[in-house]
Amino acid sequence: MLYSSEIYADEVEKHRLKCPAYLQIQAQRAAPYYQLDINAGPALDVEPILGACLPGHSMAERRAAYAATLGPDGLDDLIERVCQAAERASIVGHLERHGLLRCVADDVIVELGAGRGYLGAAVAGHCASLTCLVLVDCRGFKLKADRRGQGVDGGQDSGAAALRHLDLHRLRCDLKDFSLAGCPGLDRPGPSGGAPPRSWVGVAKHLCGAASDFALRAAVEQAPRRCRGLGLATCCHHRCSWRAYVGKEWFAERGFAPAEFELVSWMSGWALCGHEAPAGAGCEEGDEDGATGPSAGTEPGASDQAARIAVGQHCKALIDAGRLAYLTGRGGMEGVLVAYISPEVSGENKLLLGLRDGIQPSDIGLILRTSCAPACH
Ligand SMILES: C[S@@+](CC[C@H](N)C(=O)[O-])C[C@H]1O[C@@H](n2cnc3c(N)ncnc32)[C@H](O)[C@@H]1O
Repeated sequence: MLYSSEIYADEVEKHRLKCPAYLQIQAQRAAPYYQLDINAGPALDVEPILGACLPGHSMAERRAAYAATLGPDGLDDLIERVCQAAERASIVGHLERHGLLRCVADDVIVELGAGRGYLGAAVAGHCASLTCLVLVDCRGFKLKADRRGQGVDGGQDSGAAALRHLDLHRLRCDLKDFSLAGCPGLDRPGPSGGAPPRSWVGVAKHLCGAASDFALRAAVEQAPRRCRGLGLATCCHHRCSWRAYVGKEWFAERGFAPAEFELVSWMSGWALCGHEAPAGAGCEEGDEDGATGPSAGTEPGASDQAARIAVGQHCKALIDAGRLAYLTGRGGMEGVLVAYISPEVSGENKLLLGLRDGIQPSDIGLILRTSCAPACH
């Protein structure tokens, strides 16, 4: 229907000659720059929402009606997956921007605390020359990207599909005990035939507490020149420990005692008081024991929630700053700490980047920089 006037059928032709709306549309269509549907995308065989063509309902109304059929749980699940995908896309973007995905064929990507391995899958999808991916986690998982990539556990998944042609290894190991010397993939020649061990890039999303320190130590202390760089999103700072912490020296130089580190770690849990989701949420696997650090009401000091959150954020920043100093000092890497997603999406939003090469001069040094992806609501 091109226009809304009601006219008798036998008067349509006569009316067309004088109908302003009709004549205007005809003129628009006669323009040399007009080509019907040239950019509309391919025609759909099936509408994504059944009943989408119901007359008398706006697009928003039809979408709202469809959302109602999912129920609150179904919609929450979708929102969670959207946030996860946004986080992964942002991490991959930062890795790419800092040259960490410019892999030579012999490089191996190691995902640390991989969970279901969807970050590794996303990285593999952006790294055409990658031949080998290693996923390390101390726990076992169902519905993991590596099985979906092989068509198991639900089949099609565009991110996981990128895994299909890789030399892929899933290792069940605590990062505390993870030795690169015997790591499958690293321990054999790459496609170009160079002698093993191969060089590697570490990636991690929401790596809990001390596990971040284990990963950093592996990169820096074990055959350090072999680690080309790291992109590690830290998480759950209330699960750090003095023994594991890589920033001891930096921390002590700032006048803090080991016992005070334990309190700083404890208070870091306050940062997430303002978030509905508990610490450790924002990962596909959730928090194993639901620990959120000190519970509201039992903590000394800061009386109101806003002040407590601010203290918690300072504590997290302090812990990560010591890690950054370790990477740039003992690790000999260039270090950058970025906020990779809006804090409304996740309070656990810091990505620690360590770069051995491939970095632009403006990025060099101990920089606390914010570069957020758009919030997902
Ligand atoms: C918060 S989840 C994040 C999982 C996944 N990277 C994601 O973003 O969905 C943390 C993961 O790290 C793993 N993890 C925690 N501590 C670990 C350790 N010491 N060694 C190996 N994996 C560990 C957990 O089993 C869990 O899968």
